[in-house]
Amino acid sequence: MADTETRSGSDELLFFVNGKKIVERNADPETTLLTYLRRKLGLTGTKLGCAEGGCGACTVMLSRYQTHTQQLLHYAVNACLAPLCSLHLVAVTTVEGIGSVARKLHPVQERIARAHGSQCGFCTPGIVMSMYALLRNNPTPKMADVEEAFQGNLCRCTGYRPILEGYKTFTVDGGCCGGRGRDNGCCMANGSGAEESSEEVVDESTSLFNAADFAPFDPTQEVIFPPELTSLSRGQRSASLRFRGDTATWLQPGSLDEFLRLKWKHPDARVVVGNTEVGIEVKFKNMVYPVILAPAFIPELNEVRHTEDGVVFGAACTLSHMAAVLRQEVETLPPHRTEVFLAVLEQLRWFAGLQIRNVAAVGGNIMTASPISDLNPVFMATGCKLTLMDKDGSRVVPMDSAFFPGYRRTGLRPQEVLVSIEVPFSRRSQFVSAFKQSPRREDDISVVTAAMSVSFAPGTAAVQQLRLSYGGVAAVTTMATATARKLLGRHWGEELLQDACSSLAEELSLDPSAPGGMVTYRRTLTLSLFYKFYLTVLQKLTEQGVTVDAVRPDYLSAADLFQAETPTSVQVFQAPEGPGQGDAVGRPMMHLSALKQATGEAVYCDDVPLYENELYLSLITSSKAHANILSIDAAAAEVMPGVVCCVFAADVPGSNATGPVQYDETVLADRQVTCVGHIIGAVVADTQLHAQRAAKAVRVQYQELPHVVTIQEAIAAQSFYQPIRTLQRGDLEAGFKQADHILEGEIHIGGQEHFYLETNVTLAVPREDGEMELFVSTQSASKTQALVAKALGVPANRVVVRVKRMGGGFGGKETRTTVLSTVAAVAANKLKRPVRCMLDRDEDMLVTGGRHPFYGKYKVGYLSSGKVVALDVSYYSNVGNSMDLSLSVMERALFHMENSYSVANVRGRGFLCRTNLPSNTAFRGFGGPQGMMVAESWITDVAQSLGRPAEEVRRLNLYVEGESTPYNQILHQLTLDRCWDECLSRSGYQQRRAAIDLYNRQNRWTKRGLAIVPTKFGISFTAAFLNQAGALVHIYTDGSVLLTHGGTEMGQGLHTKMVQVASRVLGIPCCKIHISETSTNTVPNTSPTAASASSDLNGAAVQNACEVLVKRLEPFKTKNPKGSWEDWVRAAYFDRVNLSANGFYKTPDLGYDFETNSGRVFNYFSSGVACSEVEVDCLTGSHKNLSSTIVMDVGHSLNPALDIGQVEGAFMQGLGLFTMEELRYSPQGVLLTRGPGSYKIPAFGDIPTHLTVSLLRDAPNDKAIFASKAVGEPPLFLASAIFYAIKDAVAAARGESGLSGPFRLDSPASCERIRIACSDRFTRLCPPAEPGTFKPWSVQV
Ligand SMILES: Cc1cc2nc3c(=O)[nH]c(=O)nc-3n(C[C@H](O)[C@H](O)[C@H](O)COP(=O)(O)OP(=O)(O)OC[C@H]3O[C@@H](n4cnc5c(N)ncnc54)[C@H](O)[C@@H]3O)c2cc1C
Ligand code: FES
Ligand code: FES
Repeated sequence: MADTETRSGSDELLFFVNGKKIVERNADPETTLLTYLRRKLGLTGTKLGCAEGGCGACTVMLSRYQTHTQQLLHYAVNACLAPLCSLHLVAVTTVEGIGSVARKLHPVQERIARAHGSQCGFCTPGIVMSMYALLRNNPTPKMADVEEAFQGNLCRCTGYRPILEGYKTFTVDGGCCGGRGRDNGCCMANGSGAEESSEEVVDESTSLFNAADFAPFDPTQEVIFPPELTSLSRGQRSASLRFRGDTATWLQPGSLDEFLRLKWKHPDARVVVGNTEVGIEVKFKNMVYPVILAPAFIPELNEVRHTEDGVVFGAACTLSHMAAVLRQEVETLPPHRTEVFLAVLEQLRWFAGLQIRNVAAVGGNIMTASPISDLNPVFMATGCKLTLMDKDGSRVVPMDSAFFPGYRRTGLRPQEVLVSIEVPFSRRSQFVSAFKQSPRREDDISVVTAAMSVSFAPGTAAVQQLRLSYGGVAAVTTMATATARKLLGRHWGEELLQDACSSLAEELSLDPSAPGGMVTYRRTLTLSLFYKFYLTVLQKLTEQGVTVDAVRPDYLSAADLFQAETPTSVQVFQAPEGPGQGDAVGRPMMHLSALKQATGEAVYCDDVPLYENELYLSLITSSKAHANILSIDAAAAEVMPGVVCCVFAADVPGSNATGPVQYDETVLADRQVTCVGHIIGAVVADTQLHAQRAAKAVRVQYQELPHVVTIQEAIAAQSFYQPIRTLQRGDLEAGFKQADHILEGEIHIGGQEHFYLETNVTLAVPREDGEMELFVSTQSASKTQALVAKALGVPANRVVVRVKRMGGGFGGKETRTTVLSTVAAVAANKLKRPVRCMLDRDEDMLVTGGRHPFYGKYKVGYLSSGKVVALDVSYYSNVGNSMDLSLSVMERALFHMENSYSVANVRGRGFLCRTNLPSNTAFRGFGGPQGMMVAESWITDVAQSLGRPAEEVRRLNLYVEGESTPYNQILHQLTLDRCWDECLSRSGYQQRRAAIDLYNRQNRWTKRGLAIVPTKFGISFTAAFLNQAGALVHIYTDGSVLLTHGGTEMGQGLHTKMVQVASRVLGIPCCKIHISETSTNTVPNTSPTAASASSDLNGAAVQNACEVLVKRLEPFKTKNPKGSWEDWVRAAYFDRVNLSANGFYKTPDLGYDFETNSGRVFNYFSSGVACSEVEVDCLTGSHKNLSSTIVMDVGHSLNPALDIGQVEGAFMQGLGLFTMEELRYSPQGVLLTRGPGSYKIPAFGDIPTHLTVSLLRDAPNDKAIFASKAVGEPPLFLASAIFYAIKDAVAAARGESGLSGPFRLDSPASCERIRIACSDRFTRLCPPAEPGTFKPWSVQV
């Protein structure tokens, strides 16, 4: 066989996709499987969410025949990281390959849809494929297997609960049925369910779907592995291959010898196995590797061997394989032999997601030499040995502190490769632990990761050998050798602990400016984790009868490893009454697109097939926060392969001034940039890769100007936009005089990235007469139309904007989408060719802004009873570099400053900080959550200062019917008290409180906390003119109805609800009604789909149009009462009746004036209450969401399944906002967290273990369509119950250190903040550096 190098040209790449054979003669090493599927094969069911393996939207299943084991493997992978060239003789299965709506649905597709687990649907194909791959390997999985399968999948809409609920039906241990099986001995019926309401309610339903309707799952019916691949694999696996691309050559050696020869010849070649590290380097770090060596199939590198000392793993063994082997060892060997294996398994449990572990190699992790590698500390602490080879021979080296000489460097010579690693058995009297601390438990990179091994002289507690290895505290994985040396021979006891801690604090000190930030936290963790190890070992020694100090019973839980529990849930809603049997309104109807979403047939903007002459656009953005542009040099970019042209401000034919409310932005910056990420221009090329490469080659020269990044800097510089809003009622001075006590406090609430799974996309298609047709993923078709027309200098009637559906919006696609759509339209106009752009996740996060960070400062006066009588609060929001919607956001914050509490004398002031960050914008809740968060901070302070239970103080201050708000709106039909009482009783609040108090007395290092929090959310756009909507309804002569309205579908189920409304009014089944899209040429001048009001507004417009049509059909119905709908329609048509009608609605009596504090702001309020319980690990700052009970008033629900979906989705998004999601900016205004790798949204594992959602019964709303209420935004704030439960637990921890009374806890309550707030002996050993004496890595903006 010829050597890969000696043959000319490229080899053929042979693989199968969905059973179809593909022979690719020009496989490019830089092409990923995802790009190939979507662009070359047109299989757009597989989605792009991040391109970095962090979201799972691109999950597909690979199957291959492994020759050396003669096994067929099926495994889920991230197509965005899988190199096309790695797929020789592999069968790929995508979501399209397992079923379709037209053909036959696969049960994994059907069940996620019918269980309401698909809202926007962008994550759905990936989740379907993770589940499918699991079932291919294990047709009878347990819930734990399902949870493991989803570690690498994210969903931003559903809150995950319904997905698990649907897939529980495949498992053998589905757990609690949530009350659905009351008749078959359900735990909830026999009195053991804590969530059961004491009331006997007959028309209450807990079933959103009927599992009995699901098609059965028959694993024997799956597509078989192509026999051709089996026989080819047997014959060809050792074949060497070569694929040549523009910039890289892929060499797949057929044997170890060939691999070593090639590495000798190309010492700089990049070895690629899983590509989970190299793929990121190429995509995001601009690395170019001309020669790639792919040794994944070499048998020696995949071998697993047992030796006398341990188990040897070939370097290309995947982490999944390694875990399977070690699990087997643990099952069969005596426990004292498997301490090291258990430590490796503990790290692998939280290592990335399954898709990554299925391809990432153990050798890849070692050789990446990352300082936060999770495996290297274990390998180092336990003395693993590595076998290295070059063409001349091999050597064995220990993994010790000499192995990593510097940042991302190893002791390998350039010509050497890693062949294997030996993981040793442990010995008697050796104990090993491994720890990983990360902001999110699942699929996250470590803040600090550690492994520790200690050996004792047999039968004693005298330390014979100690190895402490840490990641995340230096530029390399490091060993605390000095500390370990000091402790040799010492007795394992309190004195050793004290010395170990002071020594570690000294030895592992970090520079306060260290990259990654969180310096005090990281330092504290080194001690806290050692303490956990100390307790664990103490316990094990005690168990072995060695004489040591007994571990105090209240310290025991500190040593427990985290155990995930399978979540259980209950959803309660009122069974619909409705006028007739066939009435769709009020029923838990499935989202109308759910099935298509689950099969990949639903078309999103970037799934629109390519136009023949289409081009791709990539943005050129500013790298400076504030600067004059001195020059732009695009010469190098313009001559790069595939580049067609560059676009700059001079190419804007109309006005370059743009902005959704004020024209204070530029389409393309010409003279000045005011944030990092400010769009300066764009490159248009034949492919995305070419456009992106060229955009990076454009050189911009800047003259830097002073910048303002944080709220505190803006306050210091008085950098505010005008106006400064004030909302005041009562007599503040008198209020404070009346008060028995006054306290002051402050809280900072961090911003939030929308993280819609589908990033911003626009496809702009020029037509004749200056027309421009745009396909955009936007919540605001009319605003896009207006701003594109302005930029092009054409009247609005030449621009058509079409929106089929969005992969999530959450406010992020209300205005900021126009920054992309205007540029794409300008480029398309210049070239007279279609231009497409879908932003990469990092670009989207950089450019489009998010939720406003807020800083609230308050002074509150209250009586000794806890009644608040005076409140003075100032809000400061970080607006960014343009006004966007920030004034309205601030106004809503002010309108929610008292949350649900009646305060007689109140003043709120809102300051809009002008900073050099990308403009912040609308985000679900629109300032309301920030406004209410400050309120909950002061009410908690009041309770803590009085030493009273917070829930009593909250209840005491709760509004009652007929009271009025600070903006003088009288509260009618108030349901707050009902929600409160139901939540108290459903959650078993008092019993929980008592149990928590007991738990906290019995546990020193883990504490539980509880909080119940109300919300009252005003419904209406606060800009009165936006409270209008239109609809257009056509009835065709066959009786089918085409419905169009002004709202857009982003997953919330608006189209489904509108069809339900039309169905009721027209009196026909939903299946006769179709919504195709939202477009500006059908319903004009629409308001954005926002403010939770779209069902109210568009629903009333649809009702209006349908009523007109019903009236027109009435005579034909009267004439032929026994006739069918089709008969009446036909008769009307032949009688020349207009079967098309438009509808319109405007919310009556709205309009408020800040000057006079008069007029109605809101049409009505949506209320709810949540109670949450958490458990905090005081040593690490992690917390578990034990339970959340939500009671929400949605009026008479139009669709309980969709409404509960909104409640749960919003709650989980709020959970992210208040406990997890942190945008980090450098002091220079550079966003450092630009993808799922560094920015963590909640994952499957973050759902509260017990989740109850109850829709308040008998609460009709006379202000909206069919007595319903808005639901999109209001429940989000309820997640603050988790934040305040955490604060409650932290207060208990502080109590142990003698600290009491109010304390500041900023949002999010991240692990870092929780750990630092639980002040104790370890935190005191790591005091923070004096502010101002160093330059921090990141700043609180
Ligand atoms: C979403 C995501 C999550 C992640 N989570 C974690 C995590 O939780 N913990 C963690 O520690 N890491 C994590 N990583 C990092 C990465 O997955 C691991 O480091 C992985 O083990 C790399 O293996 P690979 O086969 O994919 O490496 P590749 O990308 O194929 O290669 C990585 C490096 O190793 C070198 N290399 C590979 N094999 C050899 C060999 N035999 N001889 C010489 N050099 C070799 C390559 O040249 C390259 O420099 C994550 C990555 C992603 C994308
Ligand atoms: S797109 Fe592949 S994991 Fe996100
Ligand atoms: S449904 Fe999961 S991201 Fe929208």
